[in-house]
Amino acid sequence: MTAPLSRRMFLALGATVVVAACSSSEEGKSSGSTEVASTAPATSLVPPSDLPSDPFTLGVASGDPDTESVVLWTRLAIDALNGGAMPDEDIDVLWEMSTTESFDEITIAGIATASPQYGHSIHVIAAPANVTGLLHYRFRLGDYTSPIGTTRLSPSSDSLEPVKIASASCQNWTAGFYTAYHDMAELAPDLVLFLGDYIYEGGVGSLDAGAVRLHNSDEIRDLVAYRNRYGLYKSDPLLQAAHQMCPWVVTWDDHEVENNYANLTPEDPADNAGHTARRAAAYQAWWEHMPVRFDPPVDENLTIYRQVQWGGLVNMLVLDTRQYRDDQACNDAVLQTTPACDDALLPERTLLGAEQEAWVAANIRGVDKVWNVLANQTVMTDIRLGAAVLNFDQWDGYAPDRDRVLTDITEQGVENLIVLTGDIHLSGIGQLTTTANPTTAVGIEFVTTSISSGGNVPPETQGLLKALSNIIDAEASHRGYTLHTITPETWTAQYRIVDDAKVENSGVSDWKTFTVTAGTAAVAEV
Ligand SMILES: [Fe+2]
Repeated sequence: MTAPLSRRMFLALGATVVVAACSSSEEGKSSGSTEVASTAPATSLVPPSDLPSDPFTLGVASGDPDTESVVLWTRLAIDALNGGAMPDEDIDVLWEMSTTESFDEITIAGIATASPQYGHSIHVIAAPANVTGLLHYRFRLGDYTSPIGTTRLSPSSDSLEPVKIASASCQNWTAGFYTAYHDMAELAPDLVLFLGDYIYEGGVGSLDAGAVRLHNSDEIRDLVAYRNRYGLYKSDPLLQAAHQMCPWVVTWDDHEVENNYANLTPEDPADNAGHTARRAAAYQAWWEHMPVRFDPPVDENLTIYRQVQWGGLVNMLVLDTRQYRDDQACNDAVLQTTPACDDALLPERTLLGAEQEAWVAANIRGVDKVWNVLANQTVMTDIRLGAAVLNFDQWDGYAPDRDRVLTDITEQGVENLIVLTGDIHLSGIGQLTTTANPTTAVGIEFVTTSISSGGNVPPETQGLLKALSNIIDAEASHRGYTLHTITPETWTAQYRIVDDAKVENSGVSDWKTFTVTAGTAAVAEV
């Protein structure tokens, strides 16, 4: 983790009951104090409340685990589609963690303060000492108790115990149901990696035009609207259950703000005037709704790229390829088969930004883990057709930056490079190459299809896609997710696809499974 511990986040240490009484985080206020109360029964600590109804309508979540602690999240909202309908005041909430689902024994607990400034969201860093295995957590306020979540810490840094990580992305509410999450819960990953497009910013939609359910407002542009949109998405019981089952590591792509924005450049130049304020609102709402281990934004910026490690197996760099990128080249033309304009190959163009690029270089080499992973938004595999770029929003539109990153990784002797990607709403497997050695794989990319968002590569072009030299395989017709089983010897990606995401309770099955053997940059279907 690169972010410092903040005033907004509450750290409690110890195996006894610890009460962390903190003030709100508004500028100028003190950061509060920590009080240890090891003998007090937790029930006596539930803050009183006269709220008219249950504030735990958005469920709970956990995330960004390390070997010492994990982030616990909830947001108080009586009416999440209408601003939350909470009193305009700070509200103290009890959080509890236990090794038993009955909560007979509380491992660790504390008080967190939900403030209206941040939509009454809560981010707790829970650090239960000397605990291994599953942990259960909940929040309590007056007579109300949240759903119970299950989480875990990352195992000790030398553990080679296999881990299952599910990668997911793109869950447009209107385009389909979250059946994939029902299946994911049954296959019980240890960790979920969400690669972006958690919400979509568009308007209400139309059932006549193929929507299976409608958005709650016109296109979202301000903080209240973004909050209400998260309220809608997080009302889905399958999504709530997926958050409750294990910790998540979340990054964003474009739709958390708006389609194909690039840094401070909106998609449509007509939106220039309001884009910075819109991005600030969107970033804040994202932070408020995600179980992430860093401070909220103070302006239109929010540093979210970070390192997450799992035992001795995985060194994962979670990227942000939206906030620092240059604007898409060549007018962001789509599926253009003529040679790209010269801009696309300017060496100074960047997708990561200089700082993040240097951070990747510094944090991927010399790390004593078996697998090196980039958790990434848009497709990294080179799928250019000669000089033509099919999608300028992807790494192909920033080829010099890609070459710098992959060449550095290769020259540093980094082995076992896996790139996990979302965005493009198809299942795909690609080999990563450099300009110097265009036919030699330096790593493997596993692209997960969308949870629900409609396909944006026509299935009839699937054959064309598979004919590209760096594409190992692809399937463009189905929604789903990918379950990765990781051992010291192999990385196995199991592609789960939903029969029809537009039909509730549709069946889910394997499309295909692929394995990379450690020490090789080769992938094979199992
Ligand atoms: Fe998407």
